[in-house]
Amino acid sequence: MNRWNLLAPAYDRLRRAWPLNVILERELENVRFLAGQVEQEGKTILDLGTGTGVHLKVFNPQAKVIGLDQSQRMALVGRSRCRAFILARAEHLPLKSRCIDIISAVGLLEYIRSEGKLLKELYRVGNSSGYLLITSSPRGLFTFARLLTGAKIYGREASQVIRSTDAAGYTLLRETKTFSQCAFLLRKR
Ligand SMILES: C[S@@+](CC[C@H](N)C(=O)[O-])C[C@H]1O[C@@H](n2cnc3c(N)ncnc32)[C@H](O)[C@@H]1O
Repeated sequence: MNRWNLLAPAYDRLRRAWPLNVILERELENVRFLAGQVEQEGKTILDLGTGTGVHLKVFNPQAKVIGLDQSQRMALVGRSRCRAFILARAEHLPLKSRCIDIISAVGLLEYIRSEGKLLKELYRVGNSSGYLLITSSPRGLFTFARLLTGAKIYGREASQVIRSTDAAGYTLLRETKTFSQCAFLLRKR
């Protein structure tokens, strides 16, 4: 069984446990800050690796949020927090080209082996001048503690993400950092 399916029933409770709650709340503040830089009202936001959707509170309730996850059990919880939900892998989006205003991927990239392949797909579905809000986990103890989820982890430094998003056709607008997470707001060129 998919490890995320196993984790799903306990995921929100785990996130609320100390000290994880403090670390994750700090990370979320940064994501909220970056999301706040973009006009969201009436826009379509595609959120990748939505999980149970606890982080979706950073978005404007007037935006149309479409969640997406590859785990059926995560989707069971996550779909209640979104306008629509897609069960799929982020690297193969069942969507037509240039249909999304804002793409967010919070806590996803560290589980993706090839960021080039993912970014190419995100570039395809994003509107011209569409936004991308993406986070990455730098290599370090905290990131590798995520191995406890049973998932393979791909730690990436900010410089690597900046290089690969640039190569994929994105311009970096803002970036924020905590010791455990880097977050980037980018726009399609
Ligand atoms: C750490 S959780 C993050 C959940 C949520 N974004 C948050 O911040 O709480 C990672 C999620 O990414 C999903 N995921 C991992 N690889 C994926 C992929 N290739 N495509 C879509 N979802 C994926 C997992 O099923 C899991 O729900």
